[in-house]
Amino acid sequence: TAALEIDRSLVLVGLMGAGKSCIGRKLAQKLGLPFVDADNEIEKAAGCSIADIFETRGEEEFREGERRVIARLLDGPPIVLATGGGAFMDPHTREKVKECGISIWLRADLDLLVRRTAKRNHRPLLNKGNPRQILRNLIQKRYPTYNEAEIVVDSQNGPPEETVKLALEGL
Ligand code: S3P
Repeated sequence: TAALEIDRSLVLVGLMGAGKSCIGRKLAQKLGLPFVDADNEIEKAAGCSIADIFETRGEEEFREGERRVIARLLDGPPIVLATGGGAFMDPHTREKVKECGISIWLRADLDLLVRRTAKRNHRPLLNKGNPRQILRNLIQKRYPTYNEAEIVVDSQNGPPEETVKLALEGL
């Protein structure tokens, strides 16, 4: 790839199963930037899993922690940051990303999301009922907001390299 000078963090947004972590990791490799997964950072800071945080402290407290962690990461040197699916729905986080990052929405259709989230059931939001129905509702609720991202990339069904290529072209 041509030497792209990235002076702001790249922030991947999109629903669970869109491929934010996978694509983010590969994108970071290509660009020579560190990759950070916001969910992992939240778990490290809390000393327990996201599922545990939801269960013992509730979603609202999780969202506050998520907002703090992302703000701190975006205050540092450029990284590729994979965010949890709800992060970009927070107006403060959207402002912060607009201010010091480049947002990339990994857009994916319902079937792809259902397939990709079916393997491991560690996502508290999908454990509350029928995953397809829940994901369908989240698409309705969130896609208009994700659409505010600077760059929109269609998450490809094939090998991740195809999606990474599209993201690089978008930069
Ligand atoms: C959430 C998505 C999850 C995680 C939490 C809530 C959401 O992250 O942050 O379970 O609200 O969509 P992934 O999108 O990485 O699965």
